[in-house]
Amino acid sequence: MSTTQSATSADELRRMANEHLWLHFTNMAAQKPPIIVRGDGCYLEDADGKRYLDALAGLFSVNIGYGFGEEIGQAALDQMRELPFYTNWTYAHPRAIELASEIASLAPGDLNRVFFVSGGSEAVESAWKLARQYYQARDGVHEAAGVDPGHRISAQDGSRGSHKYKAIARTVAYHGTTFGALSINGIKELRTPFEPLVPEVRHVSNTNRYHRPPEETEEAFTAFLLDELERTIEEMDPATVCLIHMEPIQNAGGSFIAPAGYWQGVRALCDKYDILLSADEVITGFGRVGHWFASERYDIRPDIITCAKGLSSSYAAIGAVVATDRVMQPFLEPSSMYTHGITFGGHPVMSAIALKNIEIMKRERIMEHVLSNEAAFRSTLEQLLDLPIVGDVRGTGYFYALELVRNKETRETFTDEECDTLLRGFLSPRLFERGLICRADDRGDPVVQISPPLIATQAEFDEMTGILGETLAEAWEQVK
Ligand SMILES: Cc1ncc(COP(=O)(O)O)c(C=O)c1O
Repeated sequence: MSTTQSATSADELRRMANEHLWLHFTNMAAQKPPIIVRGDGCYLEDADGKRYLDALAGLFSVNIGYGFGEEIGQAALDQMRELPFYTNWTYAHPRAIELASEIASLAPGDLNRVFFVSGGSEAVESAWKLARQYYQARDGVHEAAGVDPGHRISAQDGSRGSHKYKAIARTVAYHGTTFGALSINGIKELRTPFEPLVPEVRHVSNTNRYHRPPEETEEAFTAFLLDELERTIEEMDPATVCLIHMEPIQNAGGSFIAPAGYWQGVRALCDKYDILLSADEVITGFGRVGHWFASERYDIRPDIITCAKGLSSSYAAIGAVVATDRVMQPFLEPSSMYTHGITFGGHPVMSAIALKNIEIMKRERIMEHVLSNEAAFRSTLEQLLDLPIVGDVRGTGYFYALELVRNKETRETFTDEECDTLLRGFLSPRLFERGLICRADDRGDPVVQISPPLIATQAEFDEMTGILGETLAEAWEQVK
């Protein structure tokens, strides 16, 4: 069977991969990478012809599944013929204009202005830079050499102004790998090798309720989180904080949903201390939880949204920063400019692909499909709670995590060594062997993340739950 356009054999591909390809976040010493050659619907096929159910949608990102290559390819080809590239530096072109308008029409409230980038990290990076420059543009604060960055001089009246440059994010949250995004990243092990990072980010508690005291009410948990956030803002000096950046549902750690009242409280603190709220919708945007943006589902009212993956269902490398009219306003002044840009931002072919993806999502009624199936998906996954190793099933929409525990009663977790043996040594290879792709992850407590293409139906819910059930039962026999 041919494996690529040039019909390279499976063995030849393996040899070339081992000699030349450097995989991301991968220990290369041990690598014999699985080579995925084609996809259709929710399924992938490897170079040896074996099929897999992709319960991770690529990387939480192939929202419409793998079967729309012809249609999207045609849109890309048409665009290639018409205008293969032009830039958003100073110039506009039709597809970027149309895509910006489309995103503005789908985004909640007055999130009307769209700045294109190539992916999620760049979107997060750009959101922080935007927040820093927003306050300078709004308040007319200019740089004064040798002055403490927290207390620069206002250009307008010479009085001591403030320079807002710090950010707040949450522990264990993943926000990308470029220096700014990495600094915002709440996963210490990813940050440490690259320190010193961009000043200055503090991380507050995430909304993981599973390991909180069992008697704590939801209201008390919300109060605890908001108190900590407010204390952190005050300790950092509110006059220096420009951004709070959080996912509507935190992925790393396993689909943490915020308790009631949390988002209203975060919004109120942003208003009180004059800080921009940025919702990282790189995963949750474009349907993952049955809405174009999860900010709508939870009434988050962010000033900025970052998105990427689902914007094109990952058929293209495109992301975006979406800003409210209020955030845009100072940049509309004659002397003002957001001094940021990248060559491929708003690339016409990437934009054409994203436009076609959105058209397909509307036509296939993807939002309605997710909302009408989410209860069935949850109850199918909840069958796994019968297993002694599954402590928690959490999430919503098509965005779930199973937390694995040593003791369900006490919620005792596994040691680092046990996690390593359990997740990397056993679960990941075993699930793959059985034809299921999902992610066993211990960036927080050990979880299995499940985030299938948004076209998945009961047949796929059953198949993934069946394979997970057998494999987790086996895993328990090994560790109990
Ligand atoms: C919430 C979130 N933000 C940002 C990123 C970074 O996106 P990218 O890998 O496209 O740079 C990711 C990637 O998984 C993410 O999940």
